[in-house]
Amino acid sequence: MLIRAFLDDDLPSVHAVQLQCPHAAQWREDDYVRLAGIPGGMILIAQVTTAGTPEVVGFAAFHRVSDEAELHNLAVNPAHRRRGVARALLQEGIRKLQEAGTRRVFLEVRASNLPAVGLYASAGFTLHATRRGYYQNPVEDAMVMALDVIPASRIPSR
Ligand SMILES: CC(C)(COP(=O)(O)OP(=O)(O)OC[C@H]1O[C@@H](n2cnc3c(N)ncnc32)[C@H](O)[C@@H]1OP(=O)(O)O)[C@@H](O)C(=O)NCCC(=O)NCCS
Repeated sequence: MLIRAFLDDDLPSVHAVQLQCPHAAQWREDDYVRLAGIPGGMILIAQVTTAGTPEVVGFAAFHRVSDEAELHNLAVNPAHRRRGVARALLQEGIRKLQEAGTRRVFLEVRASNLPAVGLYASAGFTLHATRRGYYQNPVEDAMVMALDVIPASRIPSR
């Protein structure tokens, strides 16, 4: 599996993955292009190659402002789940954010989205706050989760 930066040509594949994932934020194609183009915007792609044919199987969209960042969207094609795709996207995103000086990463997730909550907890995110009735259709609380990122300069080199 390859984790790489989003290219404009990925747009149809990214949108197709999103449409297969009702729990992902449902964005228009323009939203991805805009995020990829703004300072601090970062979209990562997970690509798997089978019999020589590359396929986009997941993506993660982040936005960094100063030393804080937010995970805005994340989805993995249902046919490729539970193989570490989301974990790899998160790890690489956090590594890049850390390099850019990020100290804290936030995200919001539906309280009932147990796969996502499990993923974030396994990556070290903890509950920061609960936003009552934040989501619509159906109305549901949002869990705001946060991860403290160790500054790259404080990690001892091997
Ligand atoms: C949440 C989602 C991104 C996880 O993607 P994935 O590639 O299957 O996740 P991974 O294989 O990397 O799983 C990493 C860890 O997350 C947790 N996890 C993932 N799926 C889980 C599930 N269905 N139930 C419980 N825990 C789960 C586990 O701890 C897992 O580690 P393990 O497989 O060693 O037990 C995927 O289910 C998805 O696209 N869901 C729809 C969109 C969505 O909910 N996005 C998040 C919006 S906030």
